[in-house]
Amino acid sequence: MEWTSLNDIREKYLSFFESKGHLRLPSFSLVPNGDKSLLLINSGMAPMKKYFTGEVTPPRNRVTTCQKCIRTPDIEQVGKTARHGTFFEMLGNFSFGDYFKKEATAWAWEFCTEVLEMPVDKLYVTIYENDDEAYEIWTKQNGVDPSHIVRLGKADNFWEHGSGPCGPCSEIYFDRGEKYGCGSPDCGPGCECDRFTEFWNNVFSQFNNDGNGNYTELAQKNIDTGMGLERLACIMQGVDNIFEVDTVQNT
Ligand code: SER
Repeated sequence: MEWTSLNDIREKYLSFFESKGHLRLPSFSLVPNGDKSLLLINSGMAPMKKYFTGEVTPPRNRVTTCQKCIRTPDIEQVGKTARHGTFFEMLGNFSFGDYFKKEATAWAWEFCTEVLEMPVDKLYVTIYENDDEAYEIWTKQNGVDPSHIVRLGKADNFWEHGSGPCGPCSEIYFDRGEKYGCGSPDCGPGCECDRFTEFWNNVFSQFNNDGNGNYTELAQKNIDTGMGLERLACIMQGVDNIFEVDTVQNT
């Protein structure tokens, strides 16, 4: 894979998903509009919750964005890890009742391995513990080696943030090598150290959480993906942490 600037990664991602029929929308405001459950926008999907629930019809059922985010639950990690920031940009491709697991995972894999030419032996995939459908798709359709697939529980592989659309997820990790590892025999995708860096999250968004832990099935199945732009830039540029990527260094 080649050194790629953060701005080029952003453009490659958005134009890749435009080529897959997505409408490119600008980032929404960091201040939520009509969502009392959030103080600040924390993910690409947050400003579009009503498209996921079907309450509002989206301009197209495939959308791609680069969303400005602030995620307060992670704020205590900033400065301690290589991968947490106060402000970050999240790239996303979204399906509102259109494509689902097969397309979302195939395109994520195509973008990583063919557009960015990331080495397959450094990539790992996690799936929700009982999601055998995702396992079949990753191994049979996308050709991922079963030794690079890890099943994790709800804390890692079920995405939700308070109330709203949520669901089991499947993440892609990059192995940055032993020098970033904690040395534990259990170190692997999902470990808190900086060796295996999660940079892409595919959420199979099919439930609504009412905020009190009550889940109802959404009328439509959706895809909500989140790709950490600074994390991917850190990987593509081979720098130590997200504060050393080109756009930060050039300011
Ligand atoms: N909502 C998921 C996340 O923020 C995927 O976009 O990780």
